[in-house]
Amino acid sequence: MRIDIITVLPELLESPFSHSIMKRAREKGLLQVHVHHLRQWAVNEYGQVDDYQYGGGAGMVMMCEPLANAIETLSKDRKYDEIIFMTPDGERFSQSIANQLSLKDNIIIICGHYKGIDERIREHFVTREISIGDFVLSGGELAAAIVVDAVGRLLPGVLNDETSALTDSFQDNLLAPPVYTRPADFRGWKVPEILLSGDPKKVDDWRYEQSLQRTKDRRPDLFDKH
Ligand code: ADE
Repeated sequence: MRIDIITVLPELLESPFSHSIMKRAREKGLLQVHVHHLRQWAVNEYGQVDDYQYGGGAGMVMMCEPLANAIETLSKDRKYDEIIFMTPDGERFSQSIANQLSLKDNIIIICGHYKGIDERIREHFVTREISIGDFVLSGGELAAAIVVDAVGRLLPGVLNDETSALTDSFQDNLLAPPVYTRPADFRGWKVPEILLSGDPKKVDDWRYEQSLQRTKDRRPDLFDKH
């Protein structure tokens, strides 16, 4: 899978994909992440990519021309399945959206800044608008990094058995059960006996029960969907 990110702050996206699972995904050639500086498509030699908004009001708006040129230049080399705009007024990101995106081959992600991007880009180019939650970040970069991470780890071959996505929280609208490691007794706080029993069926049943209980207690909304 290839993800192209368009941003005015490429520095913010240097690190998130250079460690751990994302690093491995890239090294194995399963995930390609290309970060593009929007300024290379600026409208003048000052590197301008934003302008005052029509109708007045505080805050700049990212202009049509640089974004359109960026998208059209990238689209010359391949067909993109989705052109995503990260924005607080988009659909709420979820494991289900991550699953859907993980099936695509080529995606563009546009990171907004300032007051946002000219509405005409949203109307004529963007195919999907995603929010990572009901709060406003200073730009779309961190939100884009979250989407790339959540999608990248789902690509076949990225996770091994131990880190399998199948046992993640949310995969069946259930939260993951509690986990423990050595020692079995830490300051008198003991690991549940059943996990030491060596009986895989009992362990599986216990984990499922714990998942159900946890979801019921913490996320009744998810529990109803399950
Ligand atoms: N850009 C600013 N805030 C955002 C949010 N909550 N989700 C996605 N992109 C954003």
